[in-house]
Amino acid sequence: MHCAPGQILVTRGVTNGLGLLAAALLRPGDRVGVEEPGYPAARAVFAAHGAHVVPCRADEHGLVTGELPAGLRLVYTTPAHQYPLGGRLPVPRRQSLIAWARATGALIVEDDYDSEFRYDVAPLPALFGLDPDVVVHLGTTAKTLTPAMGVGWLAARDDLAGLITAARRDISDRTSEAAQHALLALLRDGDLDRHVRRMRREYARRRAAIVAALGDLAGPARLLGDTAGLHVVLELPAGTAAEVAAAAARRGVEVTTMERYFAGPPAMDGLMLGYGGTSLSQVSRGCQIIRQVVAALLAARPPGPGRPRGSAGPAGQHPAVSRAAGTARG
Ligand SMILES: Cc1ncc(COP(=O)(O)O)c(C=O)c1O
Repeated sequence: MHCAPGQILVTRGVTNGLGLLAAALLRPGDRVGVEEPGYPAARAVFAAHGAHVVPCRADEHGLVTGELPAGLRLVYTTPAHQYPLGGRLPVPRRQSLIAWARATGALIVEDDYDSEFRYDVAPLPALFGLDPDVVVHLGTTAKTLTPAMGVGWLAARDDLAGLITAARRDISDRTSEAAQHALLALLRDGDLDRHVRRMRREYARRRAAIVAALGDLAGPARLLGDTAGLHVVLELPAGTAAEVAAAAARRGVEVTTMERYFAGPPAMDGLMLGYGGTSLSQVSRGCQIIRQVVAALLAARPPGPGRPRGSAGPAGQHPAVSRAAGTARG
């Protein structure tokens, strides 16, 4: 991405960036699109600013850009690694999203929360790089370092950056200078790059352990979104995830079910398995337990199609998700 210094604000992270954007641009009742399923914090921030949050369907490739509703002021999206399903928004959808924003006057809010972690796939250009006039880009150190770092960034075209800076001044919002200097030192000395390279290898090992343990589960259970990021989704037959989560919890593995990522009725069932804050041995042990629990449950069920309920896409196209023990904020 190319941008001038005046187009960049140093924030406390993505959610802080969303709040600043909302404070600067939204009026009560404005319609804001959020991926469905999507990041609950994004929905909460927009709703807290009086916006009317409109769910916009995402499938295993990301936001379904051909179905965007009319009258949106903003649409929030995670194109590098859809949260939580894990898709990478394909180039034609990126182009159609930008064409849609140009045609409707809506802004695209690009949450680039974990694009540093990709495995075996080439990077795709950020939406902001394709068209900085209609995209506001948000980044964070929450995944590369830790959510506790509290430093992120927002890039926007000049007039928007000015409005957001003014709104920020009005509410006395600021980012810790001590944390900024710490990040600067890590950047300047190359430590952040080294850390990301090392962690990419470590996360690839954890991801491989998950795929080895859960990749060949029988029948309707399947793993999704394993090309990037720090979590995968284990899709489960409709109506089983809560049972699996409860049984896993009894054996010391904490996972959350997919439903918390939906604003409306969940269109799928499953678990989100986060491995950002969990060691390789914990990941392996936790996945073995989940495998045993799921296998026992599937063996006890009568055979049937077992595909997710709802309208999130063609049967069999939609994963389900939950969150594993130790995940740093999902
Ligand atoms: C989709 C998504 N965006 C952003 C973040 C990070 O937000 P922040 O930078 O506010 O910690 C997370 C963390 O879990 C996330 O899942």
